[in-house]
Amino acid sequence: MARIVAGIACSHVPAIGVAIDKGTTETDYWRPLFAGYEPAREWLAKLAPDVAIIVYNDHASALSLEIIPTFLIGVAAEFPIADEGFGPRPVPAVRGHPDLAWHLAESLILDEFDMTIANEMPVDHGLTVPLSVTCGRPAIWPFPVIPVCVNVVQYPPPTGVRCFKLGQAIARAVERFDQDLRVVIYGTGGMSHQLQGERAGLINRRFDTAFLDGLTRDPVALTKIPHTEYMREAGSEGVELVMWHVMRGALRTQVTEVYRHYHVPASNTAAALMILENEGSS
Ligand SMILES: [Fe+2]
Repeated sequence: MARIVAGIACSHVPAIGVAIDKGTTETDYWRPLFAGYEPAREWLAKLAPDVAIIVYNDHASALSLEIIPTFLIGVAAEFPIADEGFGPRPVPAVRGHPDLAWHLAESLILDEFDMTIANEMPVDHGLTVPLSVTCGRPAIWPFPVIPVCVNVVQYPPPTGVRCFKLGQAIARAVERFDQDLRVVIYGTGGMSHQLQGERAGLINRRFDTAFLDGLTRDPVALTKIPHTEYMREAGSEGVELVMWHVMRGALRTQVTEVYRHYHVPASNTAAALMILENEGSS
């Protein structure tokens, strides 16, 4: 039986990927952020999961604004790196896990989540930056990945409650898979940031801290936050945080927060990395 052993909440700021790719992580600006990633890398290398499910949003890289799935799952054997305007990031292509991905697609759709299925799809910084943050710069990624995309680009995105329920359905599906796999799930994006308009540059440490606390201790209450509150408190792009509810919904009610890192600024955002373990399952 497969099982989800841990969840990772991780910002996917594109500039973090650029700093890794250009080797500027030791500059005064970036050092404090990257120093906080080291314990997470050590933890993940020790955990050595068999597969990762990465919940992220495509930024009009694979999916133009002509077609916008609310929820999508990638079932390919390999996902190429998207060209986001400056050429693809110099990182390995992402290996998929078609057996588990197809099982998830079938289970989720029969569980009444109407997933779009991607047989081919390039993956952008939303997925590759969290991989780089937690795995460094390996020649090949240490585990296969199942991409799960959530629309947070075009209104209306799904609610936090719906995302949490998707996470619960993912956990049920994983537990019905007949291979003995240890699975880690990432929720990416956030935290507070606004990239446009009069409030560009908005950061809200109080909101972010309360969100991190709630994610560990009272995630169901946290799912009730409406879109308007994300917009007001965490900025227009802060609504990416709904994707963290998918990760949290896939974990048990009781989790152990094993690591938290929060840093401002990372480009125009508040960046965070938090690790939650399902108690007794690693
Ligand atoms: Fe994003």
